[in-house]
Amino acid sequence: MTPDLPGTIEGVALSNPAPVAVALDAPDLETAARWAGLVTPHVSTVKIGLELYLRYGPNVVASIKGASGVRVFLDLKLYDIPATVAAAARTVARLHPDLLTVHASGGADVIRAAAENAPGTKIAAVTVLTSLSEDQLAQTGVTGSVHDAVLRLSALAVDAGARAIVCSPREVSAVRAEVGPGIMLITPGVRPAGSAAHDQARVATPEEAVKAGSDLLVIGRPITGAPDPGAAAATVAASLRRLTPTRHLAFAGEPP
Ligand code: C5P
Repeated sequence: MTPDLPGTIEGVALSNPAPVAVALDAPDLETAARWAGLVTPHVSTVKIGLELYLRYGPNVVASIKGASGVRVFLDLKLYDIPATVAAAARTVARLHPDLLTVHASGGADVIRAAAENAPGTKIAAVTVLTSLSEDQLAQTGVTGSVHDAVLRLSALAVDAGARAIVCSPREVSAVRAEVGPGIMLITPGVRPAGSAAHDQARVATPEEAVKAGSDLLVIGRPITGAPDPGAAAATVAASLRRLTPTRHLAFAGEPP
């Protein structure tokens, strides 16, 4: 057992700051950078999505990160043939994001291409978009339940080199049973008690999501839409600290 360190309990490393990725879904860079500055003392990660990346280009990563040590989750949800994803992953790797999303439904070769070409970045596989209902999934030609598809795609992605899976809090315990303990499970659809669900259909509180086995909670509007995003992030972080020690999963490049 490792000796107790600040931020550990009985040698178990607590994710400190809290294991939360704040979704910077902002209309402009100034707002996103302001939110990042306010939440960074309290959370481990900020998430940069397609809107910000397409508007401002690759420089947005450095602009948001600034001099802070906050981790960057680049949510580009890559989906293309393996050669193109390999080239895209190589390009993005220069930005040193800690996490990069790729669609698992692209197949094992696509996941492998991303993992091999961005070795310093944890590849997070998106299984089934939580916006898809069972009927809509069937319309795409995927037979069987969403649940089965999520488990199948999780196993495929991990076998091909993904080290993180994006799934709903509802699926997290089944995915954990499927992929084992060493894989980071990332869950959007998290809502602190009392905050609005917005367009998220299946929500869990931060405490519920962590208890179910989530390693990184994606939270956007309940924090960024609060009058004081820093205070809202601090409240979520405090609620998580009250839980029993959570597992700390290393990001790519960190010792396990
Ligand atoms: O504001 P809110 O907490 O709903 O933000 C959630 C973030 O997570 C958004 O950036 C959204 O695009 C993203 N996301 C999601 N559901 C998924 C994958 C990503 O809500 N299945």
